[in-house]
Amino acid sequence: MSKNLATQVNQGRLAGKTAVITGGAAGMGSVTSELFAREGATVVILDIQKEAGLQVVENIKNRGGKAEFIETDVSKADQVDAAFDKIAEIVGPYNILFNHAGTITVKPLDESTEQDYDRLMDINVRSAFLVCRRAVKEMSKNGGGSIVITASIASELGYALESLYCMTKGAVLQLARTISVEYRDRGIRCNSVCPGFVKTAHGLREIDELDAAGQEWEDGALADSQGRICEPEEVAAAVLFLASDESSFVNGNALYVDNGWYAKG
Ligand SMILES: NC(=O)c1ccc[n+]([C@@H]2O[C@H](COP(=O)([O-])OP(=O)(O)OC[C@H]3O[C@@H](n4cnc5c(N)ncnc54)[C@H](O)[C@@H]3O)[C@@H](O)[C@H]2O)c1
Repeated sequence: MSKNLATQVNQGRLAGKTAVITGGAAGMGSVTSELFAREGATVVILDIQKEAGLQVVENIKNRGGKAEFIETDVSKADQVDAAFDKIAEIVGPYNILFNHAGTITVKPLDESTEQDYDRLMDINVRSAFLVCRRAVKEMSKNGGGSIVITASIASELGYALESLYCMTKGAVLQLARTISVEYRDRGIRCNSVCPGFVKTAHGLREIDELDAAGQEWEDGALADSQGRICEPEEVAAAVLFLASDESSFVNGNALYVDNGWYAKG
């Protein structure tokens, strides 16, 4: 192994990088935050869950990593702008964004209200607009970077009782593709990660609510579609690849982390 490569390995796959992670206080976001820090990145977590976010920061610091938490509701423009102002002040330029924060509503379309629509569009779509708008501007000035947006298997396939959710996840997948086209020449890559069911609060609640409504994910459909439930670490590993320079020519892709579910249709 050459000396350069040996040094790189010791420093980690994100050595010298700074990563902003929305929704990094729990689930896949927290696992990815800890993985990024272990791989050498300085991590800044934006989340509404203060206690959980500070705990992730403490875990990272206890292992010798660097991390900050900024309490932020990423669906609110003033809070997003204040958070990014603070990032500039406390860590300076960043070159990775993991736009992950999001949630789900399980409900028949004909029972869904405008409030349901507004809430889900705000948390899943407006947040991505606000955060990515800020990131592409700043990354353009600071030499580029890599953006990863959490989409879903529900971005391109339709699922009963998830019409609003599928709409929001289709929107963020398209945002990722568009950023890759519009900002490639400014050194910014943007890809999305599309998980199936993942063992997080979000994924387990989704399975419970779908089963309560008469579907049978827990008892068989999950095994048929994706074999078994996905671990958050398996998504984090895919996000790490997209965030790192190892994927330097991968741009505008949707990376399915679903054990062949999307391919099967
Ligand atoms: N778990 C799954 O099965 C699954 C599958 C595909 C996609 N996803 C996507 O993953 C994301 C959910 O992540 P998870 O599964 O790790 O679940 P999770 O519920 O454990 O984590 C979601 C995180 O986002 C944060 N968050 C929610 N709303 C926010 C807001 N307005 N501002 C800031 N932070 C906010 C939460 O506090 C939490 O820390 C969503 O984007 C969802 O669409 C999940």
